[in-house]
Amino acid sequence: MKMRIDVISAVPDSLVSPLNTSIIKRAQERKKVEIYVHNLRDYAHDKHKQIDDKPFGGGSGMLLKPEPFFECIDKLLTERKYDHVIFPSPGGKFYDQKIANKFSLAKNILIIAGHYKGIDDRVRQKYATDEISIGRYILTGGEIAAIVIIDSVVRLLPGVLNDSESALNDSLMDGDVIEAPYFTRPAQYSGISIPEVLLSGNEKKIKEWKEEQSKILTDKWKKINKLE
Ligand code: ADE
Repeated sequence: MKMRIDVISAVPDSLVSPLNTSIIKRAQERKKVEIYVHNLRDYAHDKHKQIDDKPFGGGSGMLLKPEPFFECIDKLLTERKYDHVIFPSPGGKFYDQKIANKFSLAKNILIIAGHYKGIDDRVRQKYATDEISIGRYILTGGEIAAIVIIDSVVRLLPGVLNDSESALNDSLMDGDVIEAPYFTRPAQYSGISIPEVLLSGNEKKIKEWKEEQSKILTDKWKKINKLE
């Protein structure tokens, strides 16, 4: 089953390069996902194609107007149903692997990216099913959050990663687990040697070492992030 992702943005150019590079590009070429970027300005009909306006009640900065969003979303909704209408926002639920796994099971996803001060709140009220924050910081817009969500979801789709194992073994895939570090040649570089066990050829020992390292790194990660 091919997933479809639609993104609405006032700055669609910012999405082009990340969506057409590396694994996300390959996923589209392999027909595992179709990604469509919609330019909000195409849905502005006044003379100046204006998509922003001053906020009621004052305050600095401009807001994205509701009408172009409503028109674009209503058009998309006449064409298909969306399992998730995602609204990236600092006020949303913190994004994590569990949510990425859930989104990866969807057939159709729509992401509404805001820019400038934000979007007239009626867009969120009317359409958003999932309000998502990618962290406790403020971005200039939802586009980068949209890329984070798309990247983390698309890599989970069957047939996207070459080694079908690697997504399953990943850090955080089966809960909150950080993997052991990896090394490649040369075995000694810049005065730093790789752990000797990795050169031993002893698979059992290597497996034990990886598990031990993973536990150490996971404990450290929980501590520095004040988890549990
Ligand atoms: N838009 C601005 N900041 C954001 C954040 N931290 N997460 C998601 N969307 C955002």
